Amino acid sequence: MSDIRWIDAPANAHGRAARLAVRATGAGPLTVLLHGYPLDHRMWDAVRDGQLADHRTLAAIDLRGHGSSPSAGDDAHAMERFADDVAAVVDALAPDGRADVVGLSMGGYAALAFAERHPQRLRSLALVDTRAAADAPAARANREAAIAMATTQGASAIADAMLPKLLAPGADPAVAKALRAMIADTPVATIVADLRGLRDRADRTALLPAIAAPALVVVGEHDAITPVAEAEAMACALPCARLVVVPGAGHMTPMEQPAAFAEALAAFWRAIG
Ligand code: MLT
Repeated sequence: MSDIRWIDAPANAHGRAARLAVRATGAGPLTVLLHGYPLDHRMWDAVRDGQLADHRTLAAIDLRGHGSSPSAGDDAHAMERFADDVAAVVDALAPDGRADVVGLSMGGYAALAFAERHPQRLRSLALVDTRAAADAPAARANREAAIAMATTQGASAIADAMLPKLLAPGADPAVAKALRAMIADTPVATIVADLRGLRDRADRTALLPAIAAPALVVVGEHDAITPVAEAEAMACALPCARLVVVPGAGHMTPMEQPAAFAEALAAFWRAIG
């Protein structure tokens, strides 16, 4: 069973106050699921409908401005602001004040910011198709081009540009269709604020050895955006991490191979007890 909860996140130096829509499924300790750019909670639907809900309360957050969560009017979505929003959700929904945090790509950047800013609220960390490094100069230039594209041509143009890079060869057309719909539904102002936050995010490579919580790194074998080598490097730098490379997946592993993804997460949770 899934219901929508509304959580208030207070304003701070990184952004304005916001109302966050959270879909919670299942029972047990809290797990928060953080979507990628420029997506929303729906990217976790296949995972939330499966076996994981037997083990955890799965809370899929619409980050501010995405999905059902209204924009707070921020010019940029700093990863620190997303992390503090997640802390507000954990405080509201976790009886023991801690959560397993699962973040894909941009959600992984936010999860790393959460690990840095709120370590006492982190039970375990799953970094999915993501990286710890900041944008290199060429990537920053690409963000500027994407901002211009979103502003002049709209969200559908962003979807057209992104889709070929998101999925493994031979991906299910239904997954591509769902992704396109999510991107096209995202307001341009949110896309632009995300792109500024992504462009300016901190390099958290040096944080990795200091993360005490158990960690899982998951990557699709065909991930063209955050490749397997980046995942291997993160898993090596984390003090207590396991790495799972998922066959047949690209950048959107939880949507492309939900059963294999869920099994990797369930095995990780079984191992950490
Ligand atoms: C994402 O999937 O969240 C984005 O590809 C992240 C990025 O562009 O760095």
